[in-house]
Amino acid sequence: MKKVLEINHLNKKFGQNTVLKDIDFSVEAGEVVCIIGPSGSGKSTLLRCINLLEEPTGGEIIFQGGKILDKGHNKKKYCTKLGMVFQQFNLFENHSVLDNCILGQVTVLKRNKEEAKAIALQYLKKVGMDAYIHARPRQISGGQKQRVAIARALSMEPEVLLFDEPTSALDPEMVGDVLSIMKELAKDGMTMLIVTHEMEFARDVADRVVFMDGGVILEEGTPEEIFNVPKEERTKDFLKRVL
Ligand SMILES: Nc1ncnc2c1ncn2[C@@H]1O[C@H](COP(=O)(O)OP(=O)(O)OP(=O)(O)O)[C@@H](O)[C@H]1O
Ligand SMILES: [Mg+2]
Repeated sequence: MKKVLEINHLNKKFGQNTVLKDIDFSVEAGEVVCIIGPSGSGKSTLLRCINLLEEPTGGEIIFQGGKILDKGHNKKKYCTKLGMVFQQFNLFENHSVLDNCILGQVTVLKRNKEEAKAIALQYLKKVGMDAYIHARPRQISGGQKQRVAIARALSMEPEVLLFDEPTSALDPEMVGDVLSIMKELAKDGMTMLIVTHEMEFARDVADRVVFMDGGVILEEGTPEEIFNVPKEERTKDFLKRVL
């Protein structure tokens, strides 16, 4: 299997507080990796370091063979290869659903408007939001917003999609729709790194589950290994609380 993303000895400090400690981790092409762990364990910070929303304090990120944190590396270009879906959607409130999916393509990827529109429509259709292209974010439900956010990320045709608790802000009846879209993307072969509290989803869809605790990866393995025969006491405790 081909590694798409590799992280070596990644560290992140906020002041004196070290929140990521020597993280080694990689993602292969087509792999779905779910990151689980208690609140404050560093899951979001890890994703934010990977997509450079936070600057790592140390270590390296290797993407398609290039060392991203090296001086002179084209970080902007790297960031366009990663799609991000946030808990709070982060849609552009003053733009229509369609424009939300077009803007990045035009401004960042320099696609022409017509091409960008065709691509946006393709992905809005995929997530079942093509009937809402003229709506503003405030006019649609949370679940629908998240589907648009996924279509927006897909419209950039990223190599890897990162999700940070994409269903945690949703009403319970909306969660299933979003998870089933993510499941479909996994089936299509999309490479995905997903921070989630949805243990059933992780068990069902992940190729690999990573358990984080206190800024380290305490253990990782297949869903069967992590959920059925966890090795570490703290993994067992966590699972007892959330399952
Ligand atoms: N911008 C920041 N400045 C200072 N400390 C931060 C910042 N962002 C995160 N932290 C700290 O880093 C630690 C890890 O936070 P992080 O948000 O990554 O955890 P998490 O695993 O995503 O938790 P949750 O499940 O609650 O989302 C926490 O102690 C948090 O207070
Ligand atoms: Mg978080």
